[in-house]
Amino acid sequence: MLEIKLEKKELPFAMAEEIKNLRTGISFSGENLKTILFTSCTPNEGKSTIALETVRSFAELGKKALYIDCDLRKSIFNSRVVEGKPKYGLTHFLTGQCKLENIIYRNVDKEDDIHFDLIPAGPVSNSPTELVASDKFKDTLKKLRDEYDIIIIDTPPLASVGDAAIIGAMVDGSILVVEAGNADYRLVQKVRDKLATSGSRILGVVLNKVDKSNKSYGYYKRGYGYGYGYGYGYGYGHSEQ
Ligand SMILES: Nc1ncnc2c1ncn2[C@@H]1O[C@H](COP(=O)(O)OP(=O)(O)OP(=O)(O)O)[C@@H](O)[C@H]1O
Ligand SMILES: [Mg+2]
Repeated sequence: MLEIKLEKKELPFAMAEEIKNLRTGISFSGENLKTILFTSCTPNEGKSTIALETVRSFAELGKKALYIDCDLRKSIFNSRVVEGKPKYGLTHFLTGQCKLENIIYRNVDKEDDIHFDLIPAGPVSNSPTELVASDKFKDTLKKLRDEYDIIIIDTPPLASVGDAAIIGAMVDGSILVVEAGNADYRLVQKVRDKLATSGSRILGVVLNKVDKSNKSYGYYKRGYGYGYGYGYGYGYGHSEQ
């Protein structure tokens, strides 16, 4: 398998703990939950960061983990690669330009010996929605599901484009990343409904970029960078646990 190395951000202790909580939350959300989509309402809320850390976290447990970058519009995946150069990505494969094995890269970090696999988005596509809605993508996801213990799928923000809702119908569950402080409650509800209408089971919400000094966050005021709420019932109220 082709090898690359992703940059590794040292997470503050509390954040690393919350990623572990998220991993536990996913693991205890049901049996046979293998394909999990991450989305948000608007850009820049932290989907890719959390999705990648979650994949790493499952890999730390010895799980066979795969990250798929399904943001076929504006992927920043390549900017996170510090060694190796991915030649092909999902858009190449979905448009028939290469085989599946050509787009699966193994993240190898000799320092920590934690391995997981990655599928980069590839070059920006002119018809991203059609590509993720294709039978080819659906069948590939099914095939990969048999080969991995966990697959985390990173998508574009759902308030801007519908890709996440399309993929939402193909996966076992979804997680909504919400940037604390910046979230528009009504927009979050709208996006939640869009995701639910697609048939996706919403596993939880990650409240990201929490301002530790903001006391109104209840539970989160303890200063965790991430918060994870089970079920849905969105509202900062779910943090009062
Ligand atoms: N908990 C956090 N604390 C501080 N900075 C964060 C946190 N999470 C993410 N960031 C930063 O926010 C920026 C956006 O993060 P990221 O790229 O993961 O978001 P995204 O939702 O995937 O964005 P896009 O919609 O563009 O794909 C990055 O610079 C990232 O380092
Ligand atoms: Mg992203």
